[in-house]
Amino acid sequence: NTIYLKDYTPAPYQASHISLKFALFEDKTIVRSEVTYLKAADASSTRLVLNGQDQAIISVELDGKPFDGYLLEEGRLIIDQPGDSFTLTITTEIHPETNTALEGLYKSQGTFCTQCEAEGFRRITYFQDRPDVLSVFSVRIEADKARYPVLLSNGNLVASGEVEAGRHFTEWHDPFPKPCYLFALVAGDLVRIADRFATQSGRDVDLHIYVRKGDEGQCDHAMASLKKAMKWDEEKYGREYALDLFNIVAVSDFNMGAMENTSLNIFNTKLVLAHQETATDSDFISVEAVIAHEYFHNWTGNRVTCRDWFQLSLKEGLTVFRDQEFSADMNSRAVQRIDDVDQLRRLQFPEDASPLAHSVQPDHFIEISNFYTMTIYEKGSELIRMQHTLLGAQQYRQATDLYFDRYDGHAVTINDFVQCMADASGRDMSQFFRWYKQAGTPSLQASGRYNAEAKQYTLTFKQSQPDTPGQKDKQPLLIPVAVGLLNEAGEETHATQVLEMTEREQSFTFNDVAARPVPSILRGFSAPVKLSSDLSDDDLRLLQLRDTDGFNKWEAGQTIALRTIQRLIADPASDTTQFVDDFGVLIAQGTHDNVDKALLARALSLPSIAVIAQAQEVVDPAAIDHARGSLLKAIKRAHKDTLAKLYEHHHSAGAFSISPAAMGRRALRNTLLELLTVTNGTGCAARGKAHYDQADNMTDRVAALSSLADSQQPQRDEVFADFYERFKGYQLVVDKWFSLQAIANRDSIFADFASLRQHPEFNIRNPNRVRALYSAFAVNNPVKFHDASGQGYALLRDAIIELNAINPQIASRQVTPFREWKRYTPVLQAHMQQALQAIMDTPKLSRDVFEVVSKCLAP
Ligand code: ARG
Ligand code: ZN
Repeated sequence: NTIYLKDYTPAPYQASHISLKFALFEDKTIVRSEVTYLKAADASSTRLVLNGQDQAIISVELDGKPFDGYLLEEGRLIIDQPGDSFTLTITTEIHPETNTALEGLYKSQGTFCTQCEAEGFRRITYFQDRPDVLSVFSVRIEADKARYPVLLSNGNLVASGEVEAGRHFTEWHDPFPKPCYLFALVAGDLVRIADRFATQSGRDVDLHIYVRKGDEGQCDHAMASLKKAMKWDEEKYGREYALDLFNIVAVSDFNMGAMENTSLNIFNTKLVLAHQETATDSDFISVEAVIAHEYFHNWTGNRVTCRDWFQLSLKEGLTVFRDQEFSADMNSRAVQRIDDVDQLRRLQFPEDASPLAHSVQPDHFIEISNFYTMTIYEKGSELIRMQHTLLGAQQYRQATDLYFDRYDGHAVTINDFVQCMADASGRDMSQFFRWYKQAGTPSLQASGRYNAEAKQYTLTFKQSQPDTPGQKDKQPLLIPVAVGLLNEAGEETHATQVLEMTEREQSFTFNDVAARPVPSILRGFSAPVKLSSDLSDDDLRLLQLRDTDGFNKWEAGQTIALRTIQRLIADPASDTTQFVDDFGVLIAQGTHDNVDKALLARALSLPSIAVIAQAQEVVDPAAIDHARGSLLKAIKRAHKDTLAKLYEHHHSAGAFSISPAAMGRRALRNTLLELLTVTNGTGCAARGKAHYDQADNMTDRVAALSSLADSQQPQRDEVFADFYERFKGYQLVVDKWFSLQAIANRDSIFADFASLRQHPEFNIRNPNRVRALYSAFAVNNPVKFHDASGQGYALLRDAIIELNAINPQIASRQVTPFREWKRYTPVLQAHMQQALQAIMDTPKLSRDVFEVVSKCLAP
C-alpha cells in the first residue's frame, strides 16, 4: 500500500469545472456532483479513476443519461475510455452526523464543517482526489433554516433564498481553479464578527469571523492579526488578496490547528479565541501566528499549489517561514527565534533521530496524514530560511516574485521552487537540494586555532550526517554558518559573515585578528544542525554576557547549563558553585529597567528534559529530572532573597496589555515564581496561591497552577477547584485544567489521571481534550510517563487502541511519544516495545496507526 514519488504520473483527465449540491439533513446528507472532464493532452492512460470512500451511490449519469459502465472497487470508481470530453454526474449519500474521523464532511457541536486536506474530499464525493487536478467550484448548500442559518462555501456568494419546509439555500462561486483539498463547507448557527481591509491596490475586502454564540467577545485579537497579516504580505512579499470576502470559522472539533481553504479558513477554536481572562500570552502569540499562517497560504499553497503530496513542504515549509518572520516583525525577533529553535529541538530533532525520520521531500508514504510533521513544517521552514540567508533579502524576494509569476494557478514541486532561487540568484542550488532529500539532523563540529604571528584565526568545521531508515552514506550538505568574532573584552571585532561550508571538512581563516578571539558560531541558528565546539565554559560565559547576537547569547547560557546538568547526572556530587554564582549575576540583570524581560525569562530557564535527553547516550528521564531539579534547588537556596525581591518588583503595573513589554514582564515574573516554588513546600504553596488570587489574566493563573501542580499541600486542590468552577463554561480553559493536572510530577498521578479520564467533561472524540489529557501527560510529564512500572505507557497504549476505531489521525499522532523507545534504559525499552506490540496486534488497525507503529517496531 506504499505510494512512491517516482511513480508520479499526471492526471489523465482534467476536471475544469465542478458543481456540487448539498442537501443537509439530520440523518444523512445527499451530495450531487456534476463534473466536466477533459482528457489531458499529455494523458498516459484513458482510465478515469475516481477516489471515494464511505458513501452510497444513488445514481451515476454520463452526459445526462443513466450510466452503469463503471467499476466499483474498494475506495475507487473506474471508467475505462469515457471519451475525450464528457460530463459525469454522481449522486451519493454520506453521513456527517456519525463521522468521528473528522475528515471530509462532519459535525462539530451541531455545526457542519469540512476538512479535506489531504484526502478528505473522497469522503464527500467520487473525484480525482489529488492536488494537481484544479477545478472551478460552484456550490449550492441547502439546509434547515432555523438550525443552520449560516451556510458558507469558498469564493463569492452568488445567490440565496428560501425553499419549502423551512429550508433555505446559498450558492457560491470560486473563480480561482483549485484542488479539491481546498474545498470547504460550513453550515451552522453562528455569530459573525465583521471588519474590512483595503488592499494596496484599493480593493475592499470583507473580513468575517464566525464563532458559536457566546464566543464573540474573544475574536478581536484574531481579527487584528488577520489585518496585520494582510498588510505584511503586501509589504514583504508584494502579495495582495484578490477576492471580495475572507471568512474564518472556528469549530471545537478539529484534528489539527487550522485549514487554509480558499476564502473560508476553518480553525480549531484554540487558534481563534483569545481574551486575557481565558487565553495565555502564548495563546495570543499562537493565534496571531496561525491566523497569519493560514492567510499566507492564500498565495503559498492555494494560488500556487502542490503537484502531489510529496511536495507538502513546498507550501508548509514556506508558509511556516513566512509566519515565523511575520511574528518576528510583530513581536521580538530574538525571542521569536529562540522559541522557534527551542521547538525545533524539542520536537523535530527527536523525530529526525527516530524510526519515523523522513526527508523534507519524502519519497514514499502509506498514509499522507502521517506526514504533517515537524520535519515537513519546521525543518522545511529552516530550509527556506537558509535559502533566504544564502541569497540575501533582496535576491530572495526576486526569487519569490519569480515563483509567483511563473506558477500562479499551477500545481508544482519543491524542485520548481528551488529552481526559482537558482534562476533569480545565478547560484547553483543542486548541492543545497540535498537538504530536501537527506533525513536526519547533521552534526557540525567546530574548532578554532589562533596564529598570533600572522594575526589570523582559523575555524575548522566537520560535518556528518547520521544514517536514517532507508538512507546511508549521505553526501555533504551546503551549510551556511553565520560567524562573528569577539575579543577577550567582549567587543565584536568581526561582524557576522556567512561562511558557506560545502565539504565534509573545511577551514575558514579570518585576518586582522589582534588576539585570540571568542567566535560566536551559527548566529541566529543559521542552519538546523547539532553544533559542538571546543569553546570553554569561560568562552561561553563571555558570549552569554556580551554577544551581539541575541540568539547566541541565549544559546551560550543554555550550553553552559547543559554541560553543568550533564556533569550532575554523571556525578551528583559535582560542584555547581560557579554556575549558581553566574546565575545570580543573570538574575541581578532583572533589576535594570531597560533589560529585555522576555529574553531574560528565557535565559533564566534551564534546558528542558526533552532537550537534555538528546545529549544522553541512554535516556533516563528520572535521572535527568533529578539532576535538573537539584540544580534548580541550589539556585533557589543561593538566591532566594534576590528572586523574591525581583518577583515583587515585577508585580503587575496598571492595565492589562499584550504588548511585547507587558508579556515580557509576565514571562519574567512567572519564571521567577517557578524558581521560587521548586521545593514544593508550604511556603511555595502559599506563594502559588497568592499568585493565583492576585491574577487578573490567564497567563498568571496558569503559572500559579503550574507552580502548584506537583504539590501535596492543601492549597493545590483549593486552587484547582476554584479554577474549574470559575471557567467550567469555557472548553479551552477546561482543556488547560486537564493539562495542568496531567503534567503533575507527584506520586498520586496515576490515581489523579484515572479520575480525570472518568471526569464527565472528558470526551475521547474531541481532539483538543485528548491532547489536553494524553499529550500533556506523555510529552510534558516525562518522568511519570516513563515511570519504571510501565503504567504511564499502558495509559497511552489503551487510548491509542480506543482512538484507532474513532479517529485514526489522532490515534496515530498519539504514538509519537513511543517513537524513540530504543534510546531509553532497558527496563523502559521493554515496556515500550510491549505497548507498541499490543497496538500492532489490535484488530482492524487503521492505515495511519499501522504505518507509524510498524516503523517504530522495525528492526
Ligand atoms: N494545511 C493545514 C495547515 O498547515 C493543515 C491541514 C492538515 N490536515 C490534516 N488532515 N493533516 O495549515
Ligand atoms: Zn499550513
